[in-house]
Amino acid sequence: ITRRFYSTNDLMGVLDSGDSAEAENIWTFECAWEVVNKVGGIYTVIRSKTGISVEETGNRYVLMGPYKKQFAQTEIEEFEFSQGPLYDVVTKLRDNGFKIHTGSWLVDGNPLVLLFDISSVSYNLNKYKQELFDKSGIGLPDNDTESNDCVLFGFMVAQFIADFNHFANKDVEISPKIVCHFHEWLSGIGLIMIRLWNINVSTVFTTHATLLGRYLCAGSIDFYNSLDKFDIDAEAGKRQIYHRYCIERAATHQAHIFTTVSDITGIEAEHLLKRKPDIITPNGLNVKKFSALHEFQNLHAVNKEKIHDFVRGHFHGYHDFDLDKTLYFFIAGRYEFSNKGADLFIEGLARLNHMIKESGSDKTVVAFLIFPTRTNSYNVESLRGQAIAKSLRDTVHVVQQDIGKRMYDACLSGKLPDSEELLSKDDLVKLKRCVFASHRSSLPPITTHNVVDDHADPVLYNLRRCQLFNNRSDRVKVIFHPEFLSSSNPLFGLDYEDFVRGCHLGVFPSYYEPWGYTPAECTVMGIPSVTTNLSGFGCFMDDHVADPTSYGIYIVDRRFIGLDDSISQLASYMHDFVSLNRRQRIIQRNRTERLSDLLDWRSLATYYRRARMLALHKVFPELIIEDENGVRHIKYPRPISEPPSPASSRATTPAPSN
Ligand code: UDP
Ligand code: G6P
Ligand code: GLC
Repeated sequence: ITRRFYSTNDLMGVLDSGDSAEAENIWTFECAWEVVNKVGGIYTVIRSKTGISVEETGNRYVLMGPYKKQFAQTEIEEFEFSQGPLYDVVTKLRDNGFKIHTGSWLVDGNPLVLLFDISSVSYNLNKYKQELFDKSGIGLPDNDTESNDCVLFGFMVAQFIADFNHFANKDVEISPKIVCHFHEWLSGIGLIMIRLWNINVSTVFTTHATLLGRYLCAGSIDFYNSLDKFDIDAEAGKRQIYHRYCIERAATHQAHIFTTVSDITGIEAEHLLKRKPDIITPNGLNVKKFSALHEFQNLHAVNKEKIHDFVRGHFHGYHDFDLDKTLYFFIAGRYEFSNKGADLFIEGLARLNHMIKESGSDKTVVAFLIFPTRTNSYNVESLRGQAIAKSLRDTVHVVQQDIGKRMYDACLSGKLPDSEELLSKDDLVKLKRCVFASHRSSLPPITTHNVVDDHADPVLYNLRRCQLFNNRSDRVKVIFHPEFLSSSNPLFGLDYEDFVRGCHLGVFPSYYEPWGYTPAECTVMGIPSVTTNLSGFGCFMDDHVADPTSYGIYIVDRRFIGLDDSISQLASYMHDFVSLNRRQRIIQRNRTERLSDLLDWRSLATYYRRARMLALHKVFPELIIEDENGVRHIKYPRPISEPPSPASSRATTPAPSN
């Protein structure tokens, strides 16, 4: 593993800390539509980073998001701020009709959180939109609810910051230095209004994709070779997202510091948003290290058993493959069919099916596709399958107990049990009933739900086109689960994390993926994955790991070769993986897990710190000091790595006497 990424000198290796934030009176606000609102990867960025953010900025770190009842109810401990500028602003704004929920997020570091109920100011929508138009020239149509929501949210946030800046400056010895970090266009109005109102705070804008990039890639455009050729305004107009694009571009240009999550998205931003990022802020994860290395391997085995249970039910009657020789592959994410590479995955699976059949291997692959879409609940076949498997399991359990009792009684009477008599006629009848009930006249379904748009659904359409029907002869079986996983799901009751742990390979052959948390999450759980050289994560790994394949990171080339060759490469990576034996898979998982340090926020948060500091110095030049030679340096606060007192360097045990 190469580490050049964080050895760059200009990062100075200097950190800020909670204590020094207090001493310097530095306040950090982080704002995103996905704060306490699980949608996709941005939620993961913010949530996984809370521990380190609180460590760095102490009780002066505040998250801001929209109030979404279903998440707030379970993830937030609500309480009122007792005093200080936060209390003052909340009180004032509530008096003006704003509904704001305050408290702390029940995640690592327990950060303070403000959730804005945008419905409380919806009567102001037209007024806000008028002001936005008058001051910036950005006009929004009536019918775009998402944009309207972000106007309400943005104005609430901007008003909060404006008032906070006022209250925090009252009667203080050290005037506050406030930095507000906004994520993605959906929070952009807050930043734009702060700048238009000339509020004296520092701003950072991080984009996790570009709107146009996402839309253009979803079509059939050769995106990366045409980046410099797009007529941006026209393309945005054609897709009826011109006004959203304006918000994104205005936030990008108004921010003191602009960042994005990978080099590849940086280049995209330069072309489509016309600003080169000041700094790249790659996404990290909160890596939990187990005290014993084998622990994550055990978790794989335990969770694989749970997936086995589901598979037994789903394939009942057709369950003539050996689970011990079955490998679980999966793809998961927001349902952007071609952006997430589901097209490549399905084609690759069809080829893999053929390759395994040809090679005469006794392995079976069960591939899960997890993309939420509209459904009318579970389908009868899937529910019936699980019910049959459960009833068989229960019956076998009862029979097992009967047999045990008979054995025990026989032994108690001093005889060895007669194996012929152990299974009574009654038991046999019970078992026969179960076996007959499990016969089915149709193939195991390729989806677990009634998909509303069954005929037009891209996953179902392509599975059918590639004839992946779960026939007995198929060595690759498929299951489309059109809902995110959760332990409360009555059909497949597993949390996403447990599911990933139980699988063998995550396959994410994305075409448009600014970062791509899904393969990164696999890596820190020690599960190998497939990614591409068009994803931020794939490029990052390629840059920092000498031979990613040997660490279980398979990078499909989607940049320099044609589509058909990419599919062949994917199929052959998957086939290579199928050819590994158990021992080789265990060794590979150990290697994959070793890469997790690279993805830990402990290493990567440094880029966020730097972005904040650069933004602060733009607005508060007093944070810049000049040395005796007239050279200007950034005055960084005390690093967190510095021991708080000399006590920790003292010997803890007396030196041995000779
Ligand atoms: N995810 C989830 N449940 C699922 C599938 C995915 O919670 O069943 C999460 C996953 O853990 C990841 C996020 O959704 O953190 C997707 O983030 P990514 O960066 O891969 O893609 P995005 O959706 O942001 O484009
Ligand atoms: C882990 C467990 C082993 C188990 C293995 C299965 O390593 O610690 O006890 O045999 O997983 O690996 P597999 O790749 O076959 O699922
Ligand atoms: C976006 C991107 C995804 C990235 C996530 C977090 O939603 O689509 O690739 O991982 O943001 O940065």
